[in-house]
Amino acid sequence: FKAPLVDTFGRQITYLRLSVTDRCDLRCVYCMKARPEFLPKADLLSLEELTTICDAFIARGVTKIRVTGGEPLVRRDVMTLIENLGARIGRAGLEEVCLSTNATQLPRFAQRLADAGVKRINVSLDTLDPGRFSDLTRGGKLTDTLAGIDAAQAAGLNVKINAVALTGANETEIPDMITWAHGRAMDLTLIEVMPMGEVEADRADQFLSLGVVRDQLAVRWTLTDLPDRTGGPARYVRVEETGGRVGFITPLTGNFCAGCNRVRVTCTGELFMCLGRDGKLDLREALRAGGRDAVDALLDRAMDLKPEAHDFRIERGASSGANRDMARTGG
Ligand code: GTP
Ligand code: 5AD
Ligand code: SF4
Repeated sequence: FKAPLVDTFGRQITYLRLSVTDRCDLRCVYCMKARPEFLPKADLLSLEELTTICDAFIARGVTKIRVTGGEPLVRRDVMTLIENLGARIGRAGLEEVCLSTNATQLPRFAQRLADAGVKRINVSLDTLDPGRFSDLTRGGKLTDTLAGIDAAQAAGLNVKINAVALTGANETEIPDMITWAHGRAMDLTLIEVMPMGEVEADRADQFLSLGVVRDQLAVRWTLTDLPDRTGGPARYVRVEETGGRVGFITPLTGNFCAGCNRVRVTCTGELFMCLGRDGKLDLREALRAGGRDAVDALLDRAMDLKPEAHDFRIERGASSGANRDMARTGG
């Protein structure tokens, strides 16, 4: 028996977010710079190392693993990892393996994901306008993402749409996106932009408060608060007119850190205790020097170091958050 992972604020860690690559076939303007510097491939953890780290977390009570990136499906051997993890569902306490993806590669992988035991995926999609999609992703094609969503639904995967709410970009489109998602039996979650890493734009120009969005939606629809569903940061409402759900992730206007149940591991084995903080521990070094025992010891240290909350701040010319791209930490 191994002790569960409980931090100094009494929060148990049951959810691991594992970023398998910092690379992506899109370059969303709020996520990375136009010319991002990607990590050298030689620094990446191997498939075996990633699996060993997951096993260490599962043995300590992690029930849910979400594979993220960058775009996880651009890593060549990612399906083998997901199949390895899928084989652990229902054994050793693992309940769920999920994926966050931009969907462009799903026509190739959706069926294999479903066969591996993945039930739910979150697809990042901020607009349904082809021109705006190309602008926001710096050259991406909306039809690629839509084809991926079709493939996922055809394979029986439950799809949730994630949209970052952006001033002057998709703000007028949000009701249409909700109608579209609910018409296809998908939840849609709105996200406040977070000051992660450096992008060309001022975060103050991108930021849109979801309190304002919610008030606008409430003029047109009847919104009923729902109890917490996934143990995640989103607070959900039901839109009575469509019967579907809308989630709100509000790191800037409504902090949800008191209920935090997660930590993050990057593709090079950095263990981040909080998305919005720079503090980290080196799992790769521990694993290579001391094997599973050293990893276990590091997880205990992580619980002592996990901060109470992020301190994201968005102010014109003076935003502050974490000093790395979202694509390195997997959101
Ligand atoms: P489920 O609850 O499992 O459906 O997933 P999720 O919404 O937590 O994960 P997803 O990968 O879809 O992430 C959606 C957004 O939530 C991303 O922008 C993440 O960066 C953000 N997010 C997820 N967890 C946290 C967290 O602990 N803190 C903060 N500030 N943001 C988070
Ligand atoms: N702030 C908020 N969300 C972000 N994402 C990427 N960068 C940011 C940011 N700076 C989102 C993506 C994806 C999710 C995993 O994180 O759009 O939906
Ligand atoms: Fe790629 Fe996702 Fe970042 Fe967009 S938000 S560039 S899809 S990793």
